[in-house]
Amino acid sequence: MSKSDELARLIRDRAGGQPPEYGLILGSGLGHLSSQVQGTAIPYSDLPGFPHAGVSGHVPQLVIGELEGRRVAVFGGRAHYYESGRADAMRLPLEVLAALGCRQLILTNAAGSLRADLPPGSLMLLSDHIAMGGLNPLIGEPSEARFVPMTDAHDAGLRQRLLDAARAEAVDLAQGVYFWFSGPSLETPAEIRAAKVLGADAVGMSTVPEIILSRFLGLRCAAISVITNMGAGLSDEAISHEHTKAMAPLGAAKLEQVLRRFLRG
Ligand code: HPA
Repeated sequence: MSKSDELARLIRDRAGGQPPEYGLILGSGLGHLSSQVQGTAIPYSDLPGFPHAGVSGHVPQLVIGELEGRRVAVFGGRAHYYESGRADAMRLPLEVLAALGCRQLILTNAAGSLRADLPPGSLMLLSDHIAMGGLNPLIGEPSEARFVPMTDAHDAGLRQRLLDAARAEAVDLAQGVYFWFSGPSLETPAEIRAAKVLGADAVGMSTVPEIILSRFLGLRCAAISVITNMGAGLSDEAISHEHTKAMAPLGAAKLEQVLRRFLRG
């Protein structure tokens, strides 16, 4: 039995066998929702191979249960490329999600904005992304499936439903392109200007490898950024992880409203 099938069995033994309809991955400072799920919380430390979630602001547990009447699997924290140098650090958790029978994933993250009309506290639905660092979580994957198409990586149906949910909640949900930087150092002002020229609206250090892996595994996905700061050089405020965690709650309440409405349908 594969490692992901073994872990899926362990999770089913603890949390019940019904497949989650949605997976949710919560970004820095956005972990509150995982405590709202009625169900079973499994610490990552009980799931061999899951990330140790060494980034503060994350809640290292998988919660399986009900939220707004839907069966969900909520990842309270993620592994980033910059923690290990492995772009496929989230492969096992995503394989487990697929092995549980889940086929749809909503990802969230904290991000820096490149647009004056997206100040800290704004929400941005990813219309697309740019991965220019030469990194890819499927490097080394031997199967032909590695040539995964990315044309519809950000699923049109899920995005429309998120936009509808935001409108119903009177929450502004902008759309834009997310540029993946490896981190962990933040960008230089020149890198931010370059990302802007290349068509990006926001920058961050996560999500993109997870979307590539999810498409490889056959999951439909969509992602929302909570803007915590303007990109380097675009404002006078200092950028730091502390600042990101402090600013995330500004957008997190709106994000929760949108996600709850999305699930309620
Ligand atoms: N850059 C990269 N990642 C981030 C930022 C940023 O400005 N803000 C939050 N995550």
